[in-house]
Amino acid sequence: MARVDLPAGAARLRQLQARRAEGPDVADADAGLVGALGGQVLAQAAGDETGGLLGKARGQAAVVFQREVVHRLLRPAVHAAVGLGVAQQAFGADVHWPGDGVLEDARGATVARHGAHRTGENMGDEQLHLRIFTESAKIRRMSEIELHRKLLGDAPRNAAFHAALKQLIEPGKTTVADIGAGTGFLSFLARRLGAAHCTLIEYSGMIELAQKLARQNGIDQLTFVRGHSAELRKPPKVDLVVSETLGNFALEEGLLETLIDARRYLKAGGRVLPQGLRQFAAPVTAARLQQEIDIWPQVGFDLDLSAARTVSLNNMYVKQIAPADLGGRDCGQAWDELDLRPQAKAADSRRTATLRWKAGDLPAARVEGIALWWVCELLPGIELSTSPFAPATHWDQIYLPLLAPLELAPDDVLELSLSCDTRPDVGVRLGWKTRQLRGGKAVGEQVQDSFKGRVDL
Ligand SMILES: C[S@@+](CC[C@H](N)C(=O)[O-])C[C@H]1O[C@@H](n2cnc3c(N)ncnc32)[C@H](O)[C@@H]1O
Repeated sequence: MARVDLPAGAARLRQLQARRAEGPDVADADAGLVGALGGQVLAQAAGDETGGLLGKARGQAAVVFQREVVHRLLRPAVHAAVGLGVAQQAFGADVHWPGDGVLEDARGATVARHGAHRTGENMGDEQLHLRIFTESAKIRRMSEIELHRKLLGDAPRNAAFHAALKQLIEPGKTTVADIGAGTGFLSFLARRLGAAHCTLIEYSGMIELAQKLARQNGIDQLTFVRGHSAELRKPPKVDLVVSETLGNFALEEGLLETLIDARRYLKAGGRVLPQGLRQFAAPVTAARLQQEIDIWPQVGFDLDLSAARTVSLNNMYVKQIAPADLGGRDCGQAWDELDLRPQAKAADSRRTATLRWKAGDLPAARVEGIALWWVCELLPGIELSTSPFAPATHWDQIYLPLLAPLELAPDDVLELSLSCDTRPDVGVRLGWKTRQLRGGKAVGEQVQDSFKGRVDL
């Protein structure tokens, strides 16, 4: 079994366990893992991306690979060198994992067994469930240097965070937690602006590169923690939490839940960056994006691919959307407004909104899809925007396709209802329902849901 490398994995785990002295939070995850498996783990050569392969290779469906929620469940216990991510179900609720099974050691002996599927159940220590999967494509993407190259190449982004940090840092006094630290860039800026100390929290291997960069730049008074911020049982108490975990769909990296949880990190009167977020939607009137996505009817060979088409059109697409795609007119309306400041009521991860546009206010009668973008307020007067009408950033916009274009009569109203769910055990789920209203009555309705767009791996 070429892919199975138990001794290397076990050795790596022993090494991780030895790091217990380095920090209670990292050690906690390591100890839980090692204890539950009796010190054994099934390891897989690093770089093998397909979770199912190992299970298939061993003739049973033991390996669970679940993309969407991985980063919320992944424990920082297993290093990339082992090639496997191991998750403890820290947020037990409403998750259904196909392929639950047993975890075997290299000789085929069972070392941990999953129970039957459990849904919506609170799991105590005695019911520890382990999930094992290769580090997901998402984790890999997030930890790739290419992402950080793009981020650091975004001069307006860097300048906005620098300006906001400058306003909030009192030299020699302010302590900072940098959640999702990546290369450590924001902490480096904070220290250069006089922050007394920064704690860098990062779940990916980028934290090691951040340490190297700190040494190279002679920046001290930094503490590095590898892990997910929500998993630190005893967070440092700081004056300022900064988190640049904004995605193309603003909340795809868990910004909202991360910043709400990060209130645990704040001293009384502490501040957070960013402070607010508004999300916008607008009808797309140009056909370009829909044509790029909806290739299904053109495939030919006398095949009916409509079932695949439906799955595909229930996805959110990251696209560069230009003003011309919106008919050159900014018809964007805010559908979501989040006050992220610690004194504000914590927003629910499930939110809905309904917007309406009169056909006569749109630049064209035919609507092909919906564009989404966001404006993030770091501090009053310091904003980042991904609007197609604002200067370009490294972020793109989101395109929501329709199942069929809408042909609006002059007095019709286009109604869009959006529902967004970013609970940690869900990942990101977006629903979009479009209704064409004539004289107040619906003459057409399309209901789409990003969960209908998923194909399990
Ligand atoms: C967009 S990058 C920002 C990196 C860096 N702060 C910067 O501004 O250049 C976000 C990083 O946060 C990490 N991340 C996201 N949410 C996190 C969380 N809650 N805890 C720890 N790391 C997180 C990701 O792995 C990624 O490296």
